[in-house]
Amino acid sequence: MLTVLILPIRFPALSLAILNEEDAPMRTVTADNITEVFTGYFGEDTDPRVRDVLTALAQHIHDFVLETRLTHDEWRKGLESLEWAARITDPERNEFVLLSDVMGLSSLVDMVNSVPGATSSSVLGPFHVSNPPPLEIGGDMRRDFEGEVVLVEGIVRDIDGAPVAGAEIDIWQTAPNGMYSSQDPAQDVHSFHALMTTDATDRYAFNTVKPVSYTVPNDGPVGQILDAAGRHPWRPSHLHFIVKAEGCRDLVTEVFAADDPYLDEDTVFGVREDLVMSYTPQPAGSFPDGFTMSGKVPGEYSRVDIDFKLARG
Ligand code: BEZ
Ligand code: FE
Repeated sequence: MLTVLILPIRFPALSLAILNEEDAPMRTVTADNITEVFTGYFGEDTDPRVRDVLTALAQHIHDFVLETRLTHDEWRKGLESLEWAARITDPERNEFVLLSDVMGLSSLVDMVNSVPGATSSSVLGPFHVSNPPPLEIGGDMRRDFEGEVVLVEGIVRDIDGAPVAGAEIDIWQTAPNGMYSSQDPAQDVHSFHALMTTDATDRYAFNTVKPVSYTVPNDGPVGQILDAAGRHPWRPSHLHFIVKAEGCRDLVTEVFAADDPYLDEDTVFGVREDLVMSYTPQPAGSFPDGFTMSGKVPGEYSRVDIDFKLARG
C-alpha cells in the first residue's frame, strides 16, 4: 500500500504505467521513435532553450547514425578519439576546441552570431596569453627578430562609423619560425604578444615582422582525423586581435595576408572576405603621417591598414 501512495509523487511516469497498464502499454524503443522517446524524457521544468538545443542535437545524432549505418567499430573508434582528446587536454592545449575548429563548428558559431556591418569574428585559437605586455601606439613588437618588417595601423570605429577612443587591442602572432611563444622554448612568454589602447583619435599602430603560415597541433586525435580525411594541418599566416571597448561587443578576430598560399584552404575555416588584407611595399624611410617606426629602423618595409568596426551592445 505504501508503494502505491509514494510512487505518484516520486515516479509519476512509472505510476502512470502501473495505474493505466491497459491503456498505455510499455513502449518499445525503435530506430523510428528513439528521438521522440528522447524528447519524452525531458522534465516538465526544463528550460525551453535547453529543450530545443538538446532535441535538435539528439535528432541530428540519431539521423547521423541512421544515415551512415555507423558500425560498432566506428562508434568505438570515435569514443577512443574523444578519450585521447581528454587525456591530452590541459590549460595549455585543448584538443576539443581544436576538434571544433577543424570540423568547422567554431567558425559556424562565429557566423551565426555575426552582426551585419561589423568586422567578422574568427577563431581564437589556443595561443592567446593573459596579461599581454602593454605597447604604446606606434610601438615595436618585432624586438630583435629578423623577418619582413610590417607597419600595421588602423582605426577602431563602431558600425555607424563613430570613433571608438580608448579601445583595447590585444595582439598576438607567430614568430618568423611559425611558432607562438608558448610553443617555442627560445621565446619568452610575451614575445609577439601586446596590448595597445587607441588614443583620442581612435587610431592604433605597431610594427612587427610579417607572420608566417603554420600547422595546427597535429600529433593528437585531431591530427589523426585530418590524416584519415587526407587533409593538411596548415593555416594561412595571420595576426590575431581581440578588440574591446566600452559599450561595444568584444571582437575576437584574425587578419590574413592576401598573398598567402593557404588562404583558400585554412584547416580551421577562419578566413572571411573582410579579414583579408594586402601588405603594400613602402620605400625606406617613408612613414605615414603622424607615425615613425620605433625599434630598429628598417630599409624597405610593408604596410597593412586594418580598420575594425565594432558592434554596439
Ligand atoms: C591559431 O590561429 O592560433 C589556431 C587556431 C585554431 C587552432 C589552432 C591554432
Ligand atoms: Fe594563429
